[in-house]
This record gives sequence, C-alpha cells and structure tokens, in this order.
Amino acid sequence: MTEKELLKSLEEKDELIKALKEQDTKFQELYALSNKKYQEVYELLDSVINNIEGAIIATTIKQGVFLRNKAAKELINKYSEERIFNVLREFGSEGIYDFKIDEAYFHLSISPIKSADNFGYVYIIENITKMKILEHEKSRNEKLQLMGEMVANITHEVRNPLGSIELFASLLARDLESDPEKKRLVSSIIKGVRNINSLISNTLLFTKEVTVSKNEYILSDIVDEVVLYLQHIIKDRSVRFINKLNDDHKIYCDSDMYKQVVMNVISNACDAVSENGTITASSEVKDSKLYFSIVDNGSGISEDMLPRLFMPFQTTKAKGTGLGLSIAYKIIKAHDGDILVSSKGSFGGSTKFTIVTPSKS
Ligand SMILES: Nc1ncnc2c1ncn2[C@@H]1O[C@H](COP(=O)(O)OP(=O)(O)O)[C@@H](O)[C@H]1O
Ligand SMILES: [Mg+2]
Repeated sequence: MTEKELLKSLEEKDELIKALKEQDTKFQELYALSNKKYQEVYELLDSVINNIEGAIIATTIKQGVFLRNKAAKELINKYSEERIFNVLREFGSEGIYDFKIDEAYFHLSISPIKSADNFGYVYIIENITKMKILEHEKSRNEKLQLMGEMVANITHEVRNPLGSIELFASLLARDLESDPEKKRLVSSIIKGVRNINSLISNTLLFTKEVTVSKNEYILSDIVDEVVLYLQHIIKDRSVRFINKLNDDHKIYCDSDMYKQVVMNVISNACDAVSENGTITASSEVKDSKLYFSIVDNGSGISEDMLPRLFMPFQTTKAKGTGLGLSIAYKIIKAHDGDILVSSKGSFGGSTKFTIVTPSKS
C-alpha cells in the first residue's frame, strides 16, 4: 500500500467512525424518545386502570397476581384479601356472575388471558349495591302506585258507610248516657271507626302527590278539633292534654292536611305515654315562622330510631303502619315547613315534636 493509499484508508476509517457515532447518537435519541413515549403510554394506561370504578385483578400461572388497580386495593382493604380471593376462586372460570358480601352486591366478570406459554384470568368486580337499591325502589314505587290506585278506589266506597256508622254510633252513645256499660261498647265502635278512617287517610296521602290549598286559620281551633276527634284515645289512656297555645297565633295552611299532621303527632304521643301521661301543646312566632310544639312525657325515642323516624314503614309498634310521620313530613314540606324532633332517648323522658311553618302567606 502506498503512503497515499494508507492516508486515504485512514481518512475513510475516520469518516466511518464519525458516521457510526452519529448513528449511535441518533439511536440513543430514538431510544430515549421511545422510552419517553412508553412511559407516557404506561402512565396513561395506569391512570385509566386506576381510575376505573370497577376493581380489576389479573393473575397468570407464571406471575401470580400481577395487577390490582386502586379500586381492587380498596375492595381488598375493606373485605380482606382472603374473602375476595375466596369468592374469585369459588367462581373459577370464565363467565359473568353476581355475588354478595355482607350487605353489598357485586357483579363479577372473568375473562381469560392466553399467550403461547402463559395462562391466567382478568377479574372485573363492580359494586352494584346502588343499582340494586334503585331497582328495589322502582319496584316498590310501582307497587305503591298500584296500591294508591286501589286505595283511591276503595276509599270512596268505604268512607261513606264509615261516616254513617260513626254518626249513628254517636247518636246511640248520646241515648245511652244512663247505661255506661252499653255506652262503653258504642264508644269502642266509634274509636274503631276513627282508627279505620285515619288509616285510610294516611294510606291515601302516602300514595298520592300532596297538593296544598292554603287559607288562614287560628292554630288553636285546628288543634281543638283534632283533640276532640282523638278524645276517645285520650280518655282511654287517661292522658292529660295541656293547651298552652296562644289564641292569637294564626296558621296559613291546608286545614285538612295540617289536621292530619297534628293528629299523627298527637296520636303518637298518646301511644308513647303510659297511664296518666301528659301532652302539652304550645306555640311561638319567631323570625316569620310559627313553631307549634307537642311535648309528651312518654317512652322517648331511641337513638337508633331517631334518624329513621320520618321514613315510611318505620315502626316500633306491633300494630303500627310506620306511615304517620312520613306523611306528616311530606305534608309539612309541601307547606315549605319543617318538623323538628328532640327526645331524651329511650329511657323515658320528654319527646318534643315541633312543626315549623311560615307565619305569613
Ligand atoms: N312521641 C313519641 N314518643 C316515642 N316514640 C315516638 C313518638 N312519635 C313517634 N315515635 C316513634 O316513631 C315511630 C313511627 O311513627 P309513625 O310514623 O307515626 O308510625 P306508627 O305510629 O304507625 O308506628 C313509632 O313507631 C315510634 O317508635
Ligand atoms: Mg303513628
């Protein structure tokens, strides 16, 4: 090789090395870029998987449990790993299943993961408790609507003869002043009729929409009327009714409905007090609101019952319907008012229901 040729070959080598170096930097840049892209996609997928509401757990024979998203971790935290994996094992293979843990309902779908040399499953668990409750409520509402239609139909047929029975029994009671034994029997008829009447009114009110037509009344007139109507129960239990109402206090309400509320609250108070109990009614006007309170010295309300008091069908009585207060609440809400309750608990003591309504129209 001549000197010239040697120089040329060296130059070519240098150029080759330079080109290789350039290529290497390019590769490195490309690698960094793809690594960044991979990281981005990974983070994105990770965030998607972790933000999915359903719990995702994936296992394969080779890796064991290799993925559990945030929801899965929360689920396992709540119910323990053992319980969750026992459920998954129980269902075992591919498919869609429903299961229940404690009071919660779940939907489980199991799909296989297959590759040339590995095998496993992806489990997706969704909490469907809310949906179940909604379904339950929907079917209850449908039943209630049906019940409403039925009640509306029979109420009409029942109320008229009931009114006549009450009227005739009252006339009979007047004629039997001199025969207390028979008068007592007739009084039982009147009481029974009134109970049926109140049951019908409550059921009817519960099932239909409340529309109020308001007028102005004297509060104590309304209360007097209710107390008169409930006289039989009040006398029966030797309850002392103390009226501390201010005769000037006016109420702007739908009188039939407001009477129903007062009746439901007072009859509950009658049920709560034992022999020689007292029920005290009082009123106050403050900040454009009328506060009508009914206090009894009866059994009191347990802490457990307090939050459920105004929900339908909540009763502690053998023959209760649990509708009285839920209807009272519905009616008072329709008057833009509120019902407040305070009780000294279930060890006896006073229970106070306060019905609040706007004092002006
Ligand atoms: N004054 C009260 N003292 C004690 N408990 C009461 C009183 N008022 C209501 N309750 C409780 O609230 C429950 C629901 O009342 P209500 O809705 O009228 O239904 P019901 O009278 O048919 O049970 C009652 O069963 C009772 O446990
Ligand atoms: Mg009641």
